[in-house]
Amino acid sequence: MTFTEEIKRRRTFGIISHPDAGKTTLTEKLLLFGGAIQEAGAVKSNKIKKGATSDFMEIERQRGISVATSVLAFHYKDKKINILDTPGHKDFAEDTFRTLTAVDSVIVVIDVAKGVEEQTEKLVEVCRMRQIPMIVFINKMDREGKDAFDLLDEVEQKLGLQVTPLSFPIGMGYDFKGIYNIYEKNINLFTGDSKRNIEETIAFEDLSSPELERLIGAKAASTLRENLELVEGVYPSFDREAYLTGGQQPVFFGSALNNFGVWELLDCFVEIAPPPRPKKAEERVVEPSERQMTGFVFKIHANMDPKHRDRLAFVKIVSGTFERNKPYLHVRLDKTLKFSSPNAFFAEKKEVVDQSFPGDIVGLHDTGNFKIGDTLTEGEVLHYKGIPSFSPEHFRYINNADPMKAKQLAKGVDQLMDEGVAQLFTLELNGRKVIGTVGALQYEVIQYRLEHEYGAKCTYEPFNVHKACWVEPSDPNNPEFKEFLRVKQKFLAKDKRGQLVFLADSAFSLQMAQQKYPSIKLHFTSEFE
Ligand code: G4P
Repeated sequence: MTFTEEIKRRRTFGIISHPDAGKTTLTEKLLLFGGAIQEAGAVKSNKIKKGATSDFMEIERQRGISVATSVLAFHYKDKKINILDTPGHKDFAEDTFRTLTAVDSVIVVIDVAKGVEEQTEKLVEVCRMRQIPMIVFINKMDREGKDAFDLLDEVEQKLGLQVTPLSFPIGMGYDFKGIYNIYEKNINLFTGDSKRNIEETIAFEDLSSPELERLIGAKAASTLRENLELVEGVYPSFDREAYLTGGQQPVFFGSALNNFGVWELLDCFVEIAPPPRPKKAEERVVEPSERQMTGFVFKIHANMDPKHRDRLAFVKIVSGTFERNKPYLHVRLDKTLKFSSPNAFFAEKKEVVDQSFPGDIVGLHDTGNFKIGDTLTEGEVLHYKGIPSFSPEHFRYINNADPMKAKQLAKGVDQLMDEGVAQLFTLELNGRKVIGTVGALQYEVIQYRLEHEYGAKCTYEPFNVHKACWVEPSDPNNPEFKEFLRVKQKFLAKDKRGQLVFLADSAFSLQMAQQKYPSIKLHFTSEFE
């Protein structure tokens, strides 16, 4: 296969949803259909169970599983499909945001009864801002839920999407009879058992044919005809270009648990979803078809075994062919590195691989060289964009609880921050360290890991911050900037990269600062033009 064909056949995507909508179930069914696993239940849920805050074994178990399920690859038809796992738990939302920088498209799963939920809103917003192509899958049609048209409205309004249904349910819950596949113009009838084999598929182009009555009964037939007429009248027809540029989102209905509507989704997905897309670096846009290898680290996973401290850095290949034992430039360190055992991922296994192509993810063993966002090239100085830090939600001082272990603590904190577990801020006034996280759960994870992996102990102290804002560098002689630095000294810190951050203690003080110092630009993410 040529290099161009290798690129064209890759589909790298993520499934996003609010917890419990059916992401794990759908992932498993896709793997099942791809022949990558033989039975349901093979993919372990990476969910953190409720109450996990006090159950460290659960957190550890979760970390182990999430390595295995970080990338799930399989072949379907002539395509190589890479599913990147995105944690649904909101305390790990930042992990998911970073993973979204490595996908070329996403599938959004929505529960038919619950409709659009909070976590879905946040994740879809990120995808929308980045113009990532999205397909929506409305799941659990075997249960009573919202009316299909009401749901489509809700998706448009709450998620700001422009939808067009490519399949439509025939009934729902107890009366769920099947799916009309608008994309392929055929009907799939539901028999209610959850075997992997697909039920009868009936090609059906002429909706006015009395055959429809015979198949699904008079009432369902007339409702379906009315619904499809309405779909045609209200929604634009599918426009691939609009889908690829984030302007239109096709919708499928089904039941992942019952394998229903999943073929329709997968068959259409492999046809319409984009192959690896070009990516912006600070210096220029890189095309996948370029021969020189480039890639970036979007995730770092620590080894669970404290005796082997090495980590696995997940690199998305953007262009060229990644080869085992070939020297690559680690741009940030200006250092050449070779990798003797890069891992590729297949189903739930990982194995050493000689070559990887754009769209693929390789796992590199790392002894502390990598940070999230690092770029690898064949020599060109490139910095991939798009892995910003967001303002954390929680802030606490971190104190050393064992004076003999100060070094271990510093090293542990440093490495955990590189992994992206949380963000570290150092106060300008007194050098005290503050840890910012998305969820309260991370504080326990950090404390536990510092102790078990680094032999260090820490305690926390509350620190009241409303929001962290990154301060755009300004002329040091600008009197307004000088005054800002002086007056706000108590609230200023440096992040890990040395960028200046304003830790506003309330919405009011943030607003006041913006009014009083209009020439100082404050940003809610660490990356700005
Ligand atoms: P998540 O990864 O998005 O968090 O969701 P997951 O797939 O774990 O699914 C959440 C629950 O919803 C699971 O039930 C799962 O069996 C169920 N589910 C998924 N798809 C469907 C569907 O099409 N129809 C129906 N009726 N249920 C569905 P659970 O009881 O929480 O877990 P389990 O004990 O069955 O694993």
